[in-house]
Amino acid sequence: MIMKHNILLVVFLSLFSATASADASVDDLLRKMKGIQTNPVELKAVIAQGEERGRLCFSCHGRDGNSKRDYIPNLASQNAEYLFTQFEHFADGTRKDYVMSKLAKQLTGEERVAIALYFANRQVTPRESKVAASADGKRIYDSTCFVCHGASGHGNDQYPRIAGQPLEFLSNTLKSFKNNDPDRKNSPMVAVIKNLSETDLQNVATYITNMP
Ligand code: HEC
Ligand code: HEC
Repeated sequence: MIMKHNILLVVFLSLFSATASADASVDDLLRKMKGIQTNPVELKAVIAQGEERGRLCFSCHGRDGNSKRDYIPNLASQNAEYLFTQFEHFADGTRKDYVMSKLAKQLTGEERVAIALYFANRQVTPRESKVAASADGKRIYDSTCFVCHGASGHGNDQYPRIAGQPLEFLSNTLKSFKNNDPDRKNSPMVAVIKNLSETDLQNVATYITNMP
């Protein structure tokens, strides 16, 4: 009974999206994504589309969203809202990266939703870290970072998951925030880490990369 209802709903939603998606706003798309996440049948269909459309991401971010290089972030297990929002930031210039800024502009709204849901629903696998976590890093994390990123570093709808990200990506990103780099402007992180030294940032990065 419930199954039948879901299938009808999928049919209805796909008819609806075919006519109404042409220039949906960011808010509309986020709302749409939330709706899909509460409907297992539709979610499965959209994830399959995301896998197809996300092919050109696999060479860097990995087929399963586990990054192939230490300077490239994992997308697996990242919150879908964050993934989607970052496409918008790359597309509108709030965030800049040579490849990502070009790619983000080429994806349609529907593709951004599908790709975000595909990667968010892959499982992140722990990396073999060559650098041990420092006790100092844990102290900084537990006193400052947990407030937004959560005790386990998994984030939520508003804050990114940072646990298990590659060390080089974490170090580079924290340095960008510290230097108020225009490639990552308007980030609340700039104020958060203003008073942390380079050594503090390196210590907290080694702690986060080792978080499961
Ligand atoms: C040539 C390599 C390359 C390709 C291909 C690529 N990316 Fe990226 N991506 C990167 C790098 C490097 C970064 C980190 C940029 C930065 O530090 O701002 C990144 C960052 C991201 C982020 C931000 C993640 C975060 O945690 O901050 C998202 C989301 C993303 N990419 C999605 C995609 C998607 C979707 C595709 C395919 C359409 C794609 N990328 C293709 C290299 C790539
Ligand atoms: C007040 C809330 C807040 C606190 C506290 C906070 N963060 Fe963040 N953090 C954010 C937000 C919001 C973002 C997304 C920023 C953006 O899009 O530019 C972010 C992004 C990040 C990123 C980039 C993630 C990615 O995939 O692109 C890293 C790394 C990070 N934070 C590390 C930390 C560390 C380390 C601490 C503690 C020293 C910390 N954060 C404390 C809110 C916070």
